[in-house]
Amino acid sequence: TYPSRVKLVDVGPRDGLQNEKQPVPAAVKIELVERLQAAGLRHIEVTSYVSPKWVPQMADNAEVMHGLKRRSDVVYSVLTPNVKGLEACLSAPREEWPQEIVVFGSATEAFSQKNINCSIAESIERFAPVVQMAREQGIHVRGAMSCTVGCPYEGEVAPEKVGHLARLMKDIGVQHVGVADTIGVGTPGKVRAAFEATLAHYGLDEVSGHFHDTYGQALSNTLAALEMGVWQFDTSVAGLGGCPYAKGATGNVATEDVVYLLHGLGIHTGIDLDALIDAGVFVSQALGREPNSRVSKAIRTK
Ligand code: HMG
Ligand code: MG
Repeated sequence: TYPSRVKLVDVGPRDGLQNEKQPVPAAVKIELVERLQAAGLRHIEVTSYVSPKWVPQMADNAEVMHGLKRRSDVVYSVLTPNVKGLEACLSAPREEWPQEIVVFGSATEAFSQKNINCSIAESIERFAPVVQMAREQGIHVRGAMSCTVGCPYEGEVAPEKVGHLARLMKDIGVQHVGVADTIGVGTPGKVRAAFEATLAHYGLDEVSGHFHDTYGQALSNTLAALEMGVWQFDTSVAGLGGCPYAKGATGNVATEDVVYLLHGLGIHTGIDLDALIDAGVFVSQALGREPNSRVSKAIRTK
């Protein structure tokens, strides 16, 4: 049996757009977030407070957070890899703060170095004060765990490495962890093993799936996680994205495709698929391309 309701976190404005070479105006990002919330998304990953030299596309983080017309029933998240990022985020007026921040670590040493320029152990040392500061302010803390089934530099990843990272995250007070297939190489058996290792440290309500669709396995992986009772997933409208430090990796599984899957299973999401498709068309047009969602294409050409 599957969960009766599922929460999707649309990470398109962040994971999706971070990799775009062409500048995307803050106004487009803001309109995208607003269209997603109008379509029924209740949790949106808006931007990241990382080095603008590393990820220039997210340099307008404060402008985007400032420009949002918020809904009181939507949770807005941002990535903060270190105290500097969290302080930048908290330097805004309180009503512009996110309700949740995301620290992001890797199950593999090589990806940790490439992505955040430090070892896994050093990353945990950097995250610890971020987690503490955020929680003192009543901000929820999520941890993204990259490369839980495959690494662009180390290849296959043993579930023990995932369990190890989950335990380190738990020890510093991270409240929820995302099991990420950063480069989209996973298949259901491997994804199950990564979740099993994570569930040794976190409860079912404290984990989510984050699947990139590079090898076309993300919907199968989503189903495998649903069968384990996982009910929270990151997805990206129009299948936007990829990670700048994971060469060749495509975007997250399209929100449209996951919503179609879930509604087909009779699972409640609160999302209006037509409005979501329109949001995907809006951002894709701004980027000069077609939405990377089979469901979007099928419904629009019906
Ligand atoms: P570093 O060079 O080791 O850090 O970078 P540093 O503390 O030595 O600082 C170097 C420079 O960066 C300094 O500036 C700092 O001020 C600045 P300079 O003196 O040279 O002018 N700096 C910052 N500026 C703004 N905001 C900050 C910040 N921190 C330092 N927070 C750092 C370490 C983590 C900052 C860097 O490696 C970085 O920004 N990396 C980008 C990581 C990133 O955004 N990756 C993509 C997101 S993760 C992802 O996509 C995976 C995920 O989707 C899950 C999955 O699919 O796996 C979440
Ligand atoms: Mg990702």
